Amino acid sequence: MCGIVAYIGHREAYPVVIKGLKRLEYRGYDSTGVALLNGGNLKVYKKKGKVAELEDYITGKDLKSHIAIGHTRWATHGEPSDRNAHPQMSGDGKLAMVHNGIIENYTQLKKELLSKGHQFTSDTDTEVLIHFIQEIKSSNQCSTEEALRIALKRVVGAYVILIVDEDNPDTLIAARKGSPLVIGVGKGEHFLASDASPIIEYTKEVVYVNDYEIAILKADELILKNISNEIQTPYIQKLDMELAAIEKGGYDHFMLKEVFEQPQTIFDSLRGRLDAKAGKLTLGGLREHMDMLKDANRIIIVACGTSWHAGLVAEYMIEELCRIPVEVEYASEFRYRNPVVGKGDVIIAVSQSGETADTLVAMESAKEKGAIILGVCNVVGSSIARLSNGGVYTHAGPEIGVASTKAFTAQLAVLCLIGLKIAEAKGSITGQRFQHLLDELEGVPDKVAIALKLNDQTKAIAAKYKDARDFLYLGRGYNFPIALEGALKLKEISYIHAEGYPAAEMKHGPIALVDENLPVVFVATKDRYYDKVVSNIQEIKARKGKVIAVITEGDQIISGMADDVIIVPESDELVAPIISVIPLQLLAYHIGVLKGLDVDKPRNLAKSVTVE
Ligand code: F6R
Repeated sequence: MCGIVAYIGHREAYPVVIKGLKRLEYRGYDSTGVALLNGGNLKVYKKKGKVAELEDYITGKDLKSHIAIGHTRWATHGEPSDRNAHPQMSGDGKLAMVHNGIIENYTQLKKELLSKGHQFTSDTDTEVLIHFIQEIKSSNQCSTEEALRIALKRVVGAYVILIVDEDNPDTLIAARKGSPLVIGVGKGEHFLASDASPIIEYTKEVVYVNDYEIAILKADELILKNISNEIQTPYIQKLDMELAAIEKGGYDHFMLKEVFEQPQTIFDSLRGRLDAKAGKLTLGGLREHMDMLKDANRIIIVACGTSWHAGLVAEYMIEELCRIPVEVEYASEFRYRNPVVGKGDVIIAVSQSGETADTLVAMESAKEKGAIILGVCNVVGSSIARLSNGGVYTHAGPEIGVASTKAFTAQLAVLCLIGLKIAEAKGSITGQRFQHLLDELEGVPDKVAIALKLNDQTKAIAAKYKDARDFLYLGRGYNFPIALEGALKLKEISYIHAEGYPAAEMKHGPIALVDENLPVVFVATKDRYYDKVVSNIQEIKARKGKVIAVITEGDQIISGMADDVIIVPESDELVAPIISVIPLQLLAYHIGVLKGLDVDKPRNLAKSVTVE
């Protein structure tokens, strides 16, 4: 979703901002732009399309400036076009603003401004906001900073905004509510961005701006205030991230790199927490909530997309290990149906980005009802992490490919740790089973490495089926959510219609789709449902469907039935999803690549969905 970058300091600002915008391309966008102060004059350049197109458009212009703001826009108000791209300017041409988020009451504000004679050149809520600020500034005869503060008190919605002001060429102003903003603190320079990726190569010292804070930046000064104009102390943190983590490192795509990183990222998600030899499991972020967790009446998992699938796997895990009822909710639905949440309920919010608006809103509403919220997040310091009362980071490292892969398997590993920890505290698991599962979890990274060796074989299967119009993905038990995840990956990356179903449910409708043209992917590793899944495969074969099956090594039965098999190492059914999803990620990746699609940035998708 939209990305912002800004620079103020001793360097040339334009190259820093353009490079930063390229680092944010993974978030998904459809237009882009920059504003800078060249010779004291405010210049704005913006274009529909990619950052490279903006660069071509600007070539040859005098871009000298030590202050600049930039934006990648994912259209909300108004189609992707040059005029709707950010930055947007005030009517007098002196202020330029980039904005992430949505101003919900912009129609009302626009009406007021129109009645005062303002004219608008775009369809955006952003242009309304910058006009509103300018209107306050001129009618109150105050500074831009003061006008911004007054304006934000009227604004309903979520935003990060950055403003450059022609009359204050050595100052950048930023404000945040509900969308992420990171400030990089250098020597005589400051960097601002939606996440740390544009900043990491310049400085590791960062400040995460909080909601309702305004930052006033000069090259060598950072003043942080709250919306009531009280000075706040910036909390400078050290980024725990290396530049290599956000580069492709020899892979053709970020997605492939991230798929192949999984033995390491799963290991990282377990590191310092799981000690199978000692039979110990430590989750510091849950320590003070353990009593409440083990006595919970109900655990409600809220999430979206792939993270929701991780929640579904966790439902099976936690119910089995802890005998606590678990509900898995689409965050977007949970919030608006006035859910029954009460004492004894624990909410677990699962999110890679930690910025997903639907999940944040669901958490806020549950918090208002008095529930305790735990977060399972990948991005340290993200909004969801900060809104949580406790939780566990997944530590998968930055995920740049829009389709989530390594974050998903890290979520599964962490959710399994959480289930085991609660079960241990509750005494709902035998010592033997607990130890067995610790051993199994510890063995997962190596088994994932073995599954990755099937890359070439999976590519050959991808070539065989890449022209199919639809795919069906089926699985039972722990593998049912993996079927959903496999279907989602294929949809996102290859634009092929795919559906995931519980294998048995197929008889109740989707079987009507089966003919010789329909590839059906079975996630059919050895578990308690195995015999039933074999019957389901027979039902598909009897109708001439093409069966691609992910099976456990040594399985002769399905090998003899399926058209194509992908063999993964044997494991306990509770951890099997972390391994069986790997070939499905690879299958989607290769089909997308073979179809010539941009797998890292699929059309219409955004990495971090910061609007509801
Ligand atoms: C799918 C995907 C999305 C996200 C969803 C939630 O590959 O990436 O479905 O899982 O938008 O995002 P997070 O996990 O950041 O809350």
